[in-house]
Amino acid sequence: MQNHDLTDQASDIEKYDLAQHIRDLDEIGLTIVPPAKLGLTIDYFEQLRDAILRVASERTGVMFDLDKNPTAVFNGRPDEIGHLIVSHLIHEDQLFEPVVSNPVKRVLMTHLLGENHRLAVSDGWIKWQTPDSWEGEATTGFHADQSVVPPPWNWKLPHIANMNWTLTDYTKEDGALAYVPGSHLEGRLPELGEALPLSVPVEAPMGSLVLFSGCLWHGAFRKNTPGLRVTLLGQHCRPYMSPFQDFKGRVSEETILASQDPGYLRSLLREGEEQLRIDPVPSTRVV
Ligand SMILES: [Fe+2]
Repeated sequence: MQNHDLTDQASDIEKYDLAQHIRDLDEIGLTIVPPAKLGLTIDYFEQLRDAILRVASERTGVMFDLDKNPTAVFNGRPDEIGHLIVSHLIHEDQLFEPVVSNPVKRVLMTHLLGENHRLAVSDGWIKWQTPDSWEGEATTGFHADQSVVPPPWNWKLPHIANMNWTLTDYTKEDGALAYVPGSHLEGRLPELGEALPLSVPVEAPMGSLVLFSGCLWHGAFRKNTPGLRVTLLGQHCRPYMSPFQDFKGRVSEETILASQDPGYLRSLLREGEEQLRIDPVPSTRVV
């Protein structure tokens, strides 16, 4: 990966007009980048959305129509009713790569996680109308993504950060991501019932990038409308952490070379790293 030092970061913030988004990340813990700043077309985002629905159909055998709730019943925990997560998308299609190596996303992720951050998750999230049997206002309980690391946390050095690419319009009624502005500064998880009264929805048009700190308290509002909310998401982590999904050696060279930033993509996938070697433990068992 080519070096991307502090001077590059400063000039990229200016080049892509990201100064306010950097301030948002520091002060609010989350920023919403509008489609016009991202260098990707609405046509691309529609293809990306359709690709998530296609992969979901291939894996489940259920057809997904953007304007309708699926008729099939999916099993899961009670708080998982009304959504489906489709994992390891970057293995599936070149279409899933441009959002991962997008230069605006790279600048913002570098601000939160420093150089050499890793892709930890490459998922699609399909959410539909929340059934009446679910009474809560939130359908995803409030949490912080870096809860695998015990608090207290230093908000200036988050361990994890997340990107959500909105592939349908986000409104509260349509079951948007909910978050508590400034909650990353607490450096801890919310107490039960603490976050919802303080939360606000992410309201953003299709084709936006929502990027936030692993310290931020967030969940999602119930979806009161029929049809699908579709999101491409990707948690990232610092290089001392193991990604939740292991991409090393599993993404084709063809995909990497077709990227607009192959060096950054290789770094995200840990392609330059030594393979972890686990020596067999000598047996002490007497046979
Ligand atoms: Fe989360």
